[in-house]
Amino acid sequence: MPEFQSTPGMRDILPPESARWRHFQAVFSAVVESAGYGEIMPPMLEDLGVFQRLGDATDVVTKEMYDFVDKGGRHIALRPEQTASVCRAFAQHRPPTPWKVYYAGPNFRHESVQRGRYRQFDQVGIEVLGADDPYLDVEVISLGWEFYEKLGLERVVLLLNSLGEPADRSAYVAALYAYFDANRSSLSPESQITLDKNPLRVLDSKRPADTLLIASAPRISEFHSPAAAEHFATVQQGLTDLCIPFTIDTKLVRGLDYYRRTTFEFIGETLHSAQNALGGGGRYDGLVEALGGPPTHGIGFALGLDRTLLACDDEGVFPTPNDDVEVFVVDTTGGRHASRISAELRNAGMRTDRAFENRSMKSQMKAADRSGAIVTVIIGSNEVEAGTAVVRPMRGEVDVNRQREVPRETLISEVGKALIQAAQAGNTKAAPSP
Ligand code: HAM
Repeated sequence: MPEFQSTPGMRDILPPESARWRHFQAVFSAVVESAGYGEIMPPMLEDLGVFQRLGDATDVVTKEMYDFVDKGGRHIALRPEQTASVCRAFAQHRPPTPWKVYYAGPNFRHESVQRGRYRQFDQVGIEVLGADDPYLDVEVISLGWEFYEKLGLERVVLLLNSLGEPADRSAYVAALYAYFDANRSSLSPESQITLDKNPLRVLDSKRPADTLLIASAPRISEFHSPAAAEHFATVQQGLTDLCIPFTIDTKLVRGLDYYRRTTFEFIGETLHSAQNALGGGGRYDGLVEALGGPPTHGIGFALGLDRTLLACDDEGVFPTPNDDVEVFVVDTTGGRHASRISAELRNAGMRTDRAFENRSMKSQMKAADRSGAIVTVIIGSNEVEAGTAVVRPMRGEVDVNRQREVPRETLISEVGKALIQAAQAGNTKAAPSP
């Protein structure tokens, strides 16, 4: 066992799995770029205060933050999420509104580690700042839905709620507090503590002691102002127009404090209920202001990459893309020819690997096999003397008659032809060459 291992909750993403991660992000970018979102790359560290604006009743802020004082004496933190960074960036740069951005990258929360819950985890997400239109809520939610469809996931459920206007939310929080406080002794000890910090979060509890009380707690919908009710009705209508199925969940309050009005979550039905939220989001009018910007409406979501890939595994969709090379070069004359031939093949757009350390023909052919290449180029002293090289198709049944010795000058185009033939014969799982 080596002295060092990656620390708990932080994993190495190795090839070929890393190719799947990149592909995930590429599919997401394509979906949201098609709707006019541009990529923002916020820094991974911010002043601690940026994240403290997320609210002090949030575990993410109070318990899970990786924060430290840097060498310049600044108290900074590794981002636990990116909505606060996007709002900080908006307040700093004041771009024209509506500002539609997306992001992809790691976040850090010191959580207890289990399947689907890590300390470094990746998200993709979008945020829109500066528009209050309920059809924007519809657009945002539908892009998340479309993305899951693009991945091939079928067992995703969309939960929808509205937390009302700030005044509705406050009245509701007061009513919830009164209700739970009257039944305090029946609540679990953990929820009794949560109640004094943030009564809404008691609704999140899945502890058996709390479930009965939660089931008959007041519902937010009873507190919606006419404006909030109308906004919510339009969102529901808009989703129905787009044939996006949803379930109203009046207990959906979400883990972060900043939400107002529309909130939503995408649930992966195949995952364990403690970690089955594939992603979620909502409106957070007020966060930009809390970060020193003008009053600005905001809405967005973040989808957890790690968990979504677990759901993909469960459903057998979105497999790891094949990143095998297409060509492997075997050189039994020392390696110099392989060097030049590989460079030429790569320049011509063919993914090419080669053997090193002048191994035997047998061992190089084994390496060619392992590489998954579709075609192997073989060059030995006979070929060097004759000014030729051998092109050998690898996949499927190796037919020695299809192995051909070709002039060195036409080698690159012959390999190209062999790849096309293999693709036509369906004898490739590799991505097509450019
Ligand atoms: P969140 O619900 O905290 O929201 O995280 C969104 C998603 O990130 C979760 O549904 C989950 O898939 C994934 N996630 C969170 N924590 C972990 C973890 N420890 N390990 C693995 N996956 C995790 C937000 O982060 C908000 N910023 C979403 C948002 C954007 N709201 C408005 N705009």
